[in-house]
Amino acid sequence: MPKPQARYACQQCGAVAPKWTGRCEACGAWNSLVEEVPRSGPPKGLARQSSRRGGPAIDFVALRGETAGPPRRQTGIAELDRVCGGGLVPGSTILVGGDPGIGKSTLLLQAAAALAAGGGAVAYITGEEAIDQIRLRADRLGVADRPVGLAAASSVRDIVDSLDSADAPDLVVIDSIQTMYLDTLDSAPGTVSQVRGAAQELIGLAKRRGFVVVLVGHVTKEGLIAGPRVLEHMVDTVLYFEGERGHQFRILRAVKNRYGATDEIGVFEMSDRGLVEVPNPSALFLADRQEPGGEPGSPEEAGGRTAGAAVFAGIEGTRPVLVEVQALVAPSLLGTPRRAVVGWDSTRLAMITAVLDARCGLSVGANDIYLNIAGGLRIVEPAADLAVAAALVSALTETPFPADTVVFGEIGLSGRVRPVGHTEARLKEAAKLGFTEAWVPARPVGRRGSSGEGLTTTAIGHLSELVARLSPPHRRIGSSGARRVAVAP
Ligand code: TYD
Ligand code: MG
Repeated sequence: MPKPQARYACQQCGAVAPKWTGRCEACGAWNSLVEEVPRSGPPKGLARQSSRRGGPAIDFVALRGETAGPPRRQTGIAELDRVCGGGLVPGSTILVGGDPGIGKSTLLLQAAAALAAGGGAVAYITGEEAIDQIRLRADRLGVADRPVGLAAASSVRDIVDSLDSADAPDLVVIDSIQTMYLDTLDSAPGTVSQVRGAAQELIGLAKRRGFVVVLVGHVTKEGLIAGPRVLEHMVDTVLYFEGERGHQFRILRAVKNRYGATDEIGVFEMSDRGLVEVPNPSALFLADRQEPGGEPGSPEEAGGRTAGAAVFAGIEGTRPVLVEVQALVAPSLLGTPRRAVVGWDSTRLAMITAVLDARCGLSVGANDIYLNIAGGLRIVEPAADLAVAAALVSALTETPFPADTVVFGEIGLSGRVRPVGHTEARLKEAAKLGFTEAWVPARPVGRRGSSGEGLTTTAIGHLSELVARLSPPHRRIGSSGARRVAVAP
């Protein structure tokens, strides 16, 4: 039998080349090709199935079958279950990505312990930490007495051999996929080929034995470590665990889910006893807003407030979330003004400053601009445009944004404010948190008025109307031309 030909896989994009080159021809990355020697036989775990020459025939079945919606297994951590679409689906694979140190191991140990407490059989396999480290963490989390099977292993062959039996557990956590290796591949653990090969084996095993496998993968914010990225198409669900290191909030975000909605988020708070679920994120994100001595959101108390902050009524997945958008606008001493944006898209900020300058006669763009979404949340909705504009204008004109008001709407390049979805849910959440007014996009003619208990909605049709409201001569709300729509309770 001829010796298997070596091939070279790019560690950045996964492209395969027959020859080594200094630069990947597919993605242009330098020095990223690593030799891969294809295995000469199937890995041991799969050997018994494909021992016949030519492999077993696959079976074809009809589209209609006895499949009644996927069964779900609740972990007992409601935020996690919701992000997964209502619980974990047996036989499926979940990839949990995130920066190192963000709390992935903590979350999964808590989930494993919660599932075990509910009677599930759980295996937690660590390739990264020592058994003692995990035990210490379990102690700290107060879950040390839960029946979780803990193992330190990194050979996929050993893992497959141990778990490939009828009494396999219900949940297997692999922490992390970058430390797992197949001994049939030559490359080092963590390389694209190892990550892909190891995941393939584990996913196959989970399907065969009907358990849930959770793969942990370290990914930097920019997705720089290519490893787990190549897994995104192989797994059923991709969750990203994110948050600013200095903040205690952590957000679990579904970016792909074959068994539920994407863009759903779960909010946690990192405490000294692990991650605590946050069932009402809005209250948390707005917690620091309260004026000393003043009622949160009490009307007409704007006098003591600082300018440059507006509350955005957003939607994350299916859930409304209120967050504060903060802006600081200062005269620039540099040729190119500084821009620092945390939690939002800087390209969109550039667009909004350009629209404010071109359509509203302001000169925002010439200043240094600092924009921050309070609480460490990252917002991707275009509906936040109007809130960002409100914070910027408020900072520029030094006019505090009314404390009892939320704002949302998408801004077009003409300066027109466009309607966005989920208006009802946004207004309801705002009313629930004690806000009394909302600045919203002007609705198409004939569709005026909306519900939202006791909330006054003020339609903003054009960005200049917002500017008029936040300019010193027009400080009194209601003095500009915008329509004011009273809403029946
Ligand atoms: P960890 O789960 O190890 O992160 P990852 O697996 O994503 O690399 O979390 C590590 C961080 O969490 C560490 O900086 C300490 C912090 N932490 C707490 O603040 N409280 C706790 O109860 C635990 C277990 C960790
Ligand atoms: Mg970890």
